[in-house]
Amino acid sequence: MTVSPFFPPDFLWGVASAAHQVEGNNVNSDTWLLEHLPGTIFAEPSGDAVDHYHRYREDIAMIAGLGFTSYRFSLEWARIEPEEGHFSVAELDHYRRMLEACRDHGLTPVVTFHHFTSPRWLLAMGGWEGPRTAELFARYCDRVMTHLGDLIGVACTLNEPNLPWLLESFGIGGEAPENRVSVPMWAAAAERLGVDASTVAPFQFCSTEAGFAVKLAAHRAATAAIKAHRPGLQVGWTLANSDIQSIEGGRELADRVRRDVNERFLEASRGDDFVGIQTYGRTVYGPDGHAPAPEGVEVNQMGEEIYPQALEATIREAHRIAGIPVMVTENGLATEDDAQRVAYLQVAVDGVAACLADGIDVRGYIAWTAFDNFEWIFGYRPKFGLIAVDRGTQERTPKESAHWLGGFAREHALSHVTQPA
Ligand code: BGC
Repeated sequence: MTVSPFFPPDFLWGVASAAHQVEGNNVNSDTWLLEHLPGTIFAEPSGDAVDHYHRYREDIAMIAGLGFTSYRFSLEWARIEPEEGHFSVAELDHYRRMLEACRDHGLTPVVTFHHFTSPRWLLAMGGWEGPRTAELFARYCDRVMTHLGDLIGVACTLNEPNLPWLLESFGIGGEAPENRVSVPMWAAAAERLGVDASTVAPFQFCSTEAGFAVKLAAHRAATAAIKAHRPGLQVGWTLANSDIQSIEGGRELADRVRRDVNERFLEASRGDDFVGIQTYGRTVYGPDGHAPAPEGVEVNQMGEEIYPQALEATIREAHRIAGIPVMVTENGLATEDDAQRVAYLQVAVDGVAACLADGIDVRGYIAWTAFDNFEWIFGYRPKFGLIAVDRGTQERTPKESAHWLGGFAREHALSHVTQPA
């Protein structure tokens, strides 16, 4: 595959991770709490994850060595502010060292300030429905910028604030506050935190209107806090954009989910510097709700249809609705068969090239994910990584897909090197 001339010289080619999925022992976060509750819906706890917290130096060197030009990772609020109002300089220094490692290896760091997990104390204060959450998040962003701002390449405020509305359409989460007490995991969390179950509102699972308002306010306040330090820094949020489609009998539901999950969040992105697009496939609705993958199609490890064409559709949707630059901040496939991943990435990258050829301002392609890691409620079984990890020894082994995409990134960089006269 040759590099399309439409990729601009400063186009970012990267891989992504999220702190809780790779660092290990994120014990002060709300998600760690949920993983260990009676009635938990998590298949297994995150534990040591892939020990990226201690191994980031070798990991960042490996990513750069493969040819990538960018690394997207997240900061863990629960480490940086372990108690409300108490900030850890040692933890901020840890992330500073990560940013320095990126700089030393020529990687542009795309930094996510919040990737699903929050400090436990925030959950006890009403989580993502709490009256002070937007203000507290902005204060944390301000502290981060004071300490790290000069080294951040691109800033993402919230990761996938819209995901709960998609999950709700699959029957995951989405209980009204008054019904949360009947869900064992929420009831146990409330007991542990000493709060009423109706107030348990973690980021990934809360799909109320109050939750929408808090997230929007948090994004806006965080953007202002970040820009106060560096007005020129590119700031946006990253959205879970499935290509939402319907078969006969499912149109009304598909239109509603598309409105709740994609369109209103894209409309709310207008005015931002860019919007991060995170697409894995299509979601099809029929007369009985979310329709299973059609008979005979190739499926991923979660049993969903493999449909890499979705990315081109969601980039075009984002461009049409938000009207701002787009960055692909996640795209990938859960499979044990890496050849399948290479084929998937090829189609996805071709879709990006087609958008660029049509004049759509796409700033980068960042694959999910650097390492096989903790896939939230599914635990460690799904393999999204371009780099395999033996969790017994923590040994890393790049897969063919890492060589393929990294090689593509390198070729792209070379294609822009000016030849001496
Ligand atoms: C999230 C990642 C997750 C990935 C694959 C996105 O929803 O941002 O944290 O691992 O999709 O499911």
